[in-house]
Amino acid sequence: MFDLECENIIKRFGAFTAVDGVSLEIPSGSFFSILGPSGCGKTTLMRMIAGFETPNRGDIRLKGKSVVNTPPNKRNVKMVFQHLALFPMMNVGENIAYGLRCRGENKTEITAKVAAMLDRISMPGVQEKQISQLSGGQKQRIAIARCMVLNPDVLLLDEPLGALDLKLREHMKIELKQLQGRFDTTFLYITHDQSEALVMSDNVAVMNAGRFEQIGAPETLYHAPKTAFVAGFVGDSNRWNGIAMMADGDHARVVVADGLEMVVPIGGARPEVGGQVEVFVRPEAMQILAQDADISTAGMNTIEGTVDSLLFNGAASRVLVRTATGLLIEIVHRMDAGQVRVKPGDAVKVGWTHGAGLCFGEGG
Ligand SMILES: Nc1ncnc2c1ncn2[C@@H]1O[C@H](COP(=O)(O)OP(=O)(O)OP(=O)(O)O)[C@@H](O)[C@H]1O
Ligand SMILES: [Mg+2]
Repeated sequence: MFDLECENIIKRFGAFTAVDGVSLEIPSGSFFSILGPSGCGKTTLMRMIAGFETPNRGDIRLKGKSVVNTPPNKRNVKMVFQHLALFPMMNVGENIAYGLRCRGENKTEITAKVAAMLDRISMPGVQEKQISQLSGGQKQRIAIARCMVLNPDVLLLDEPLGALDLKLREHMKIELKQLQGRFDTTFLYITHDQSEALVMSDNVAVMNAGRFEQIGAPETLYHAPKTAFVAGFVGDSNRWNGIAMMADGDHARVVVADGLEMVVPIGGARPEVGGQVEVFVRPEAMQILAQDADISTAGMNTIEGTVDSLLFNGAASRVLVRTATGLLIEIVHRMDAGQVRVKPGDAVKVGWTHGAGLCFGEGG
């Protein structure tokens, strides 16, 4: 059973198609994200699900029932907006109670529900606080509580962490995921931040120019992107343009811009020999090989270069290596004892296996 289904949704504004044939199915109680760059149609799609916009074509079903002709207030979905809108004149308790009062529930029941909701978001007893007395993260939790108290089938969240600073966003990512688990309600979350989508979601749809490029679990999108767009948008990669010299089975031999040759798995359709390809190699798939160590590089691609800079960041530390022809390569390299020691200016060799990375032919 799906809480939410969209079938081939199309939305045009004049001659412009903002959402272009999107379909999705979200199983009950799961966390689903739509990830895409600014302007790709995320908010437009969400507004159609909430009922604020009508699709030109396609069907939207909540718990199996079509709602395209149902007004927003009759759909059991709630939306937390990009720029959250708490009522500043009401205190916290009144904000959360608002929707229940509109429904005409009785006062005792409302008081009990508000208190229970504040407990669940770990902010017990703050009914009397003014909105202006809350931190950004607390406001965000109240905005979610105000929706969740109405017990929606699906909670829609439109970039709810956008207004928070980086540190708080990192914290709220984890908190939101835990809240969703506790409520066991289906969350549809939209964001242009790939790390938010990867950390929180059971499934992610990557959206580009009104279409879904790929839907999958975070680890599938990360390790097995189906298009160059997904490979480039999800996670960090070294990214080069090249020419396919040979393609057989599931590997291609590619020459990148400066004459560097490498063997790379083929991501999409097999590229044409002599045709343009884009190559993606994750920084953590590469390693710095000790110059003097006698290790076999059979089955590996290797590049020689000079250490340009060390970017220390604990376990996520990276080294930038510049090749003779000026390519800058990013490599995950922990700078602890036992690792190959490098400093800027050192001549080094970088290696990665033929099984790492992906290439995509033009239009693939
Ligand atoms: N009411 C409208 N009339 C005309 N064009 C619109 C309307 N609403 C959205 N658009 C256009 O549709 C496209 C998608 O907009 P949308 O707000 O869905 O993007 P988004 O993916 O949510 O972007 P962001 O990450 O910046 O919020 C944009 O090019 C936008 O200009
Ligand atoms: Mg938006």
